[in-house]
Amino acid sequence: MSKILQLPWWLDKIIFEDFGAIYEPHPEEVKSNADQTYDFAKIYLGTYFPRSVAEAYYIMSGLLENKEYFDILSKKTELNVFDFCSGMGGEIFGLILIFQEKLPNLKRIQIDAFDANPDYVRYLFHLNRKLKEITNISIEVNINPQCLYVDGEQNLLDLIAYVNCRYHVILSFKALNEFIQQNLFPDENIYYKIANLFFPCLADDGIMLLLDISSKDVRLGRFYPEIMNEGINTFVRENLLCKSIFPYSCNSYENICNGCYMQDRIYISHSKKDKDVSKIAYRIIGQLNFVQQIVKNVSCPKCKAVNQLAGKESPYQN
Ligand SMILES: C[S@@+](CC[C@H](N)C(=O)[O-])C[C@H]1O[C@@H](n2cnc3c(N)ncnc32)[C@H](O)[C@@H]1O
Repeated sequence: MSKILQLPWWLDKIIFEDFGAIYEPHPEEVKSNADQTYDFAKIYLGTYFPRSVAEAYYIMSGLLENKEYFDILSKKTELNVFDFCSGMGGEIFGLILIFQEKLPNLKRIQIDAFDANPDYVRYLFHLNRKLKEITNISIEVNINPQCLYVDGEQNLLDLIAYVNCRYHVILSFKALNEFIQQNLFPDENIYYKIANLFFPCLADDGIMLLLDISSKDVRLGRFYPEIMNEGINTFVRENLLCKSIFPYSCNSYENICNGCYMQDRIYISHSKKDKDVSKIAYRIIGQLNFVQQIVKNVSCPKCKAVNQLAGKESPYQN
């Protein structure tokens, strides 16, 4: 299945006409966003925000094809979402689009979003305000964007104590690589750390979706998907009440996987660019009982853990 999302006209209009966003890829500057300038924020909004919309849209769309998960989510009238390092919240908008399309019983989404960059947080605040004027979104969306610069363990512990909620969806998109670049937690695997710290904030039937870019970290000389798989595999092996959901191959092979490289490709089209590509890797985890329930009928694709000839995209092909 090709994953190409056409940005809805109203979101296209908000970002490019109302907010003056600019489409202009800057592969070097976008590696570090916490202290980017207001001028770069406009470029982020026009170039990288739409990609995150498409990523969340297609990942959640794929997960909702799982009948067991769909049955659980489609009964809910309210969902709580937590977005760690949300930036302007492209992934939040991707979720809203797919939920609006697939979950007719859903009345309200409450979203807590945290990020270091005050300009990005401000954009998310204004996007939330604009969303309320869009009549074809019938779900009541309440986004609570807050500025938080993480510079050590204590910020994370304070954040968890502060949120005091159990979420149906916990997200972190394309941010943890920046923690690695900043060398914020030397000698620790950041994907392990975030999964471990935020797992208690997950509802019994909640999912945690950690996503990152698929390139190589210059300092470590290692690819982010490998570091992510290593960290998440270690976490689920040490925590018997937690299990991988997606890729389904990780659910089957997380105990024998050595942390392989994997990559998915998702495309976004909008008024400034046709088929812009996003190359990413992601894992979804949840609580054991819930995961067992939703994976009971899925067939598992072969991946590098059991077949060295498997391609890097094979875990993402259902
Ligand atoms: C590439 S952006 C991704 C934003 C958004 N999740 C998306 O997919 O569009 C990475 C985000 O991580 C945030 N970030 C990086 N380091 C951070 C830190 N130490 N504390 C809090 N946020 C941080 C940046 O401000 C930026 O918004």
